[in-house]
Amino acid sequence: MSLKISSFEEYERVYKQSVEQPEQFWDGIADTFLWKKKWDKTLEWNFKEPNVKWFQGAKLNITENCLDRHLEKSGDKPAIIWEPNDPNDDHRVLTYRQLHDKVCQFANVLKNNGVKKGDRICIYMPMVPELAIAVLACARIGAIHSVVFGGFSAQSIADRILDATCSLVITADGGFRGAKDIPLKTVIDDALVQCPSVKKVIVLTRSRTAVSMIKGRDVWWEDEVKKVETQGNLTFAAEEMDAEDMLFILYTSGSTGKPKGVVHTCGGYMVYAGYTFANVFQYNPGEVYFCTADIGWITGHSYIVYGPLSQGATTLMFEGIPTYPDAGRFWDVVDKHKVNILYTAPTAIRSLMSFGDDMLRGKDLSTLTKLGSVGEPINEEAWHWFDEKIGHGHCPIVDTWWQTETGGIMISPIAGVTKTKPSFATLPLPGIQPLLVDENGKEITGNGVSGNLCIKFPWPGMIRTTYGDHERCRTAYFATYENLYFTGDGCLRDEDGYYRITGRVDDVLNVSGHRIGTAEVENAINMHSSVVESAVVGYPHDIKGQGVYAFVVCPEKHGDDELTRKDIAMTVTRIIGAIARPDKIQFVSGLPKTRSGKIMRRILRKIAEGETSNLGDTSTLLDPNVVEEIKSGAL
Ligand code: PRX
Repeated sequence: MSLKISSFEEYERVYKQSVEQPEQFWDGIADTFLWKKKWDKTLEWNFKEPNVKWFQGAKLNITENCLDRHLEKSGDKPAIIWEPNDPNDDHRVLTYRQLHDKVCQFANVLKNNGVKKGDRICIYMPMVPELAIAVLACARIGAIHSVVFGGFSAQSIADRILDATCSLVITADGGFRGAKDIPLKTVIDDALVQCPSVKKVIVLTRSRTAVSMIKGRDVWWEDEVKKVETQGNLTFAAEEMDAEDMLFILYTSGSTGKPKGVVHTCGGYMVYAGYTFANVFQYNPGEVYFCTADIGWITGHSYIVYGPLSQGATTLMFEGIPTYPDAGRFWDVVDKHKVNILYTAPTAIRSLMSFGDDMLRGKDLSTLTKLGSVGEPINEEAWHWFDEKIGHGHCPIVDTWWQTETGGIMISPIAGVTKTKPSFATLPLPGIQPLLVDENGKEITGNGVSGNLCIKFPWPGMIRTTYGDHERCRTAYFATYENLYFTGDGCLRDEDGYYRITGRVDDVLNVSGHRIGTAEVENAINMHSSVVESAVVGYPHDIKGQGVYAFVVCPEKHGDDELTRKDIAMTVTRIIGAIARPDKIQFVSGLPKTRSGKIMRRILRKIAEGETSNLGDTSTLLDPNVVEEIKSGAL
């Protein structure tokens, strides 16, 4: 059975079947994967607890699906093409056989270092093939990986390691991103001061910066691999996992508290990542597929590593940034590696667009056949530029809507099969049942309507729990509306029934496609010694989509506002990471609050957006004067 839908009529037929007989539908998809034992029961679920189990009783290892099953026919086919940060350095190609061998080797390294099935492993690495190898080696041994994006601070890493009680960290001496060297090991050292559960650190050599290796705790990746080679351990029997065993934890921000560890499990996630990859991108054997995300985010997990490899695809991993050494770098990579499918983010498109079309001169983009966008709403101007200048009008753009929690793409065109519409994610994929509700959870039916986006039936790739705190999973996603998964997104369904995601309706920002909780940023700002209180909102930003605007009550600034602003920004960088640093900081004498003490964010949002003429109802404010002052000081 082919996973790929090949016409709109087939989409309609398959979609209908997937809603009417979801279990049979997913049985058919799951049958195309490699199982050590098939399932006894396709689905058990309720959204009340929530309790969702797919393919119960089945046994598998996802790495056998991503590696072993391709060896016979495609062992010599490139699995990973790696393009380094510096275009003058050599690129690397790993065939399926080479990747398989390296994963087995590193699984042996993990075993030698005491790792067992079920252990949690933190991975904090640059975008080099060894990152994919580390991820897959964890999966092979049955250890649960928790990849932390290289831009997070020591404190953020420590929070994540502590939450999951990780026993081992895999990192590198440093990493390259554009003109910068990132001192990864030093950041890990700072984090580990707080983390007694970590007994071992495996350090890959990448940037050759000086690092302090602690006796008994820190070992070099290369030395450990040599030991395995001399032991002659070149294979590693994949651990037999239950379909519902945890595969990984990935931390993401919500509207309250610290980031939560989204848990995905082996069987359902594999089926969903593989199915959606094959379908949305209509991947054909031999095509070169380039997803520009970082493996530190869900897009990298599902659509650089697991999805493409499970389908025997060639996945291109890029270490650098779109603007280094100049803003033509993506196009150089496409040209050099003859990329067929490019999957990137609106923020990158807008940024590259702003450098002008000169950056495209002389670059051969003729190999491209399909384009994709992910992470945030894509504005029409960016959509058209992507379509015309990059796709030359003949590459379908799949605007893929999904989330860390959904595991894979949910609403999206199917490239060349279903219609596209600028700035619309369009139609749900088979198996996905979206609906819109009003504030009270009442379904909004019909077309030409807007509401809060929910999903009413489980899909195999969905979140199972938040690590160590199931109640948090329930309250965050399943308690707002009874018997529904609530996405946190607002959405429009137009006259044709096409979906357009309009952005978050909770206190979560989307800055350059990175998800940031306003409460988290406020907590970080409030750590600064002279800050009394703060409120953070988003505002429209030409490149980043949203910028971070902080209103800060800071009575003792020692006279130098600019320096205090820098101090506050530095505090946020230290506590969370540079990605959460406020773009604007406005000092205010007080925040607009209701009599019960609640901050009226609606007013602050309007001021941050520059819409001061109509602030709506301010009659419930404790002190309306404060609003006048904030308005006049707006940045
Ligand atoms: O608001 C939506 C936005 O990104 C959020 C999910 O963020 P994260 O879990 O970090 O995953 C990003 C990569 C899948 C969503 O709640 N979002 C994601 N894709 C789109 C989008 N907004 C509009 N259009 C999209 N295609």
